[in-house]
Amino acid sequence: MFDLQLESTARALIAPGKGILAADESTSTISKRFMNIGVEANEENRRAYRELLFTTPGLHQFISGIILYDESIRHLSSDGTPLVNVLKQQGIIPGIKVDKGTADMAGFPGDKVTVGLDDLRERLAEYRELGARFTKWRAVIAIGSDTPSDCCLRANAHSLARFAALSQEAGLVPIVEPEVLMDGTHTIQRHAVITQKALRFVFEALVEHRVRLEGMLLKPKMVLAGKECPHQADAAEVADETLRCMRRTVPAAVPGLVFLSGGQRDVDATAHLKTMNQRHTAPWELSFSFGRALQDSALKSWDGNSSNITQAQRALHDRAQCNSEARSNSIQIGKQ
Ligand code: 13P
Repeated sequence: MFDLQLESTARALIAPGKGILAADESTSTISKRFMNIGVEANEENRRAYRELLFTTPGLHQFISGIILYDESIRHLSSDGTPLVNVLKQQGIIPGIKVDKGTADMAGFPGDKVTVGLDDLRERLAEYRELGARFTKWRAVIAIGSDTPSDCCLRANAHSLARFAALSQEAGLVPIVEPEVLMDGTHTIQRHAVITQKALRFVFEALVEHRVRLEGMLLKPKMVLAGKECPHQADAAEVADETLRCMRRTVPAAVPGLVFLSGGQRDVDATAHLKTMNQRHTAPWELSFSFGRALQDSALKSWDGNSSNITQAQRALHDRAQCNSEARSNSIQIGKQ
């Protein structure tokens, strides 16, 4: 019953020149980021930091949607306006991370499965009521000498499909995120093989679970060599490997790919996005849903000090603008 609404929200999230800001760090993840810059990880600091991000002047020119977390979707700005409304007033679509993190997979040392399906239908209804219009679920796939197992890839694909089906049932656009990590010594070719297999399982499961592909977005990892691999690929190789993988596995019915940054330097994530768009002849929009690659410089500039807000907002604005510009070279099939 929500089909048209889902498709139009998915399209709005990948509107030309716009991408998504992932600001959905769990309390433990944001606490680690705050500790790295010596800022106390208390609720007021988390609220103030999210308010800083969301009130960045002009952000709506480059950012179509922002992913929130269970805590921040309930937060108010300093003048008492719900942060969700602060976004809506600027035409930015609020979204919500709905997975509950990962757990070790029994019987498969080193493999992880994402949890949070049990009460998901009820939580989705509440998030929609609170103003969310899209959702995100992240599966984490680590590459090691014996990982990931096919069983892990299938288990995660199944959870992603169940999450996506439940989201669409609730009228929320699912962002399906199978992240193949860049930790380790693996080559870019091994990353490509694992990514391709993971995506094949994910789309098999999505179709089996009757997920409407036109009303979802895929959030993949760019295909990269492991951080400790002696041969680091250049931007052209990253773009070619990533696009080859995606063309082989992602159906044309999916409107867009919104890449995560995954721990790359912010300028590298932007360069890779730009190169992909320059070399791109594929049916989907190629956009971004970056967390660290949009926030790192803003977080450092802020440093927990309210007198640095303007400087921090300028840093976020600049990264958002660079990534917006990185999308502008795309040549879309059928639109040439
Ligand atoms: P990064 O861009 O920092 O990888 O974060 C994106 C995200 O949403 C991870 O789940």
